[in-house]
Amino acid sequence: MKIYDLRSDTVTKPSEEMRKAMYKAEVGDDVYDEDPTVNRLQDLASKITGKRSSLFVSTGSMANLIALYINGGRGNDVLMHDQAHSLHHELGAPSAIAGINPVGVPGERGILRSEILKDFVKSQNSAYYDAKTTMLVIENSHNFAGGTCYYRENLKDIQSFSSKYNLNSHMDGARVFNASIATGISLKEISSYTDTISFCLSKGLGAPVGAMLCGSKEFIQEAKKVRKFLGGGTRQAGIIAAAGIYALENNINRLIEDHINAKNLAKALMSKPWAKVDPSTIETNILFFETIGISAQKLEKKLARRGILCFATSENKIRFVTSLEVNKQDINSISGIINSLEI
Ligand SMILES: Cc1ncc(COP(=O)(O)O)c(C=O)c1O
Repeated sequence: MKIYDLRSDTVTKPSEEMRKAMYKAEVGDDVYDEDPTVNRLQDLASKITGKRSSLFVSTGSMANLIALYINGGRGNDVLMHDQAHSLHHELGAPSAIAGINPVGVPGERGILRSEILKDFVKSQNSAYYDAKTTMLVIENSHNFAGGTCYYRENLKDIQSFSSKYNLNSHMDGARVFNASIATGISLKEISSYTDTISFCLSKGLGAPVGAMLCGSKEFIQEAKKVRKFLGGGTRQAGIIAAAGIYALENNINRLIEDHINAKNLAKALMSKPWAKVDPSTIETNILFFETIGISAQKLEKKLARRGILCFATSENKIRFVTSLEVNKQDINSISGIINSLEI
């Protein structure tokens, strides 16, 4: 039986061409800044984001953690969406290691807005028992809100809010290339609205390992130290950086296919009495649907028996994520299975 893996875009495997690029990579000791391939990847990330400097790190979680460590500060409040990845899915490391106090803020479709955020800001003049708010994190696209994106108006709102309240700002851009393609806003422009940005190479872009953290020269100098402090100073990392370069040079534009595929899956689900989803709300490669008359856990198992892997994220919600692991033909086959599924 063929397996269709819709659990996440983290399941992507490096292609033959990507592996060749890794095999041929020139390497050196990156802790001494001597790995030419890592240096090339970092320069490329700076060019794409328009930030002065960039750092190659092992994971998106590590990139977020370093930003929080430097720009949040121990005991301070950091505002983030109440469904943010950093709040719920990074093992409490933002509190345990960076020492920040994460504050979840509601926002429709995962999007934070100044009119709601402002009520969560605490300053030095607040009550004696209040922590000070130092930082704001936005997630673009927003994973658990269903791959939703910040549009220009939202990004401008975030920028002026951070500046008004003198907050450091970070974008968890694990899937920011998906957001860029969906909104038509260049990555350079998206990156200009926050002080720092991180993005993952190992999700839809298809690299096996790695994420980038980008910001000012001073921020990245500090970030390099914090990375080492966390045990993340790697040596001949060019082997994996080469996959990141390959991903950035070859796998960005094809993300649109994943978006189309996600919308088509939503269309297939829409006609089923056991699923509730509105295809017009699908912006990128992530779709959530509500299960009707069956628990999400039961449906997840039923789908797995037919070769479709996915995640039940609550009692009645299932997440599908499209990626280069499932092509258009696979989507047709999955739609066929969905159509024939009796509950
Ligand atoms: C929005 C978001 N941020 C950060 C991460 C963390 O990335 P990593 O798995 O590389 O630590 C993820 C992972 O899925 C994510 O969805």
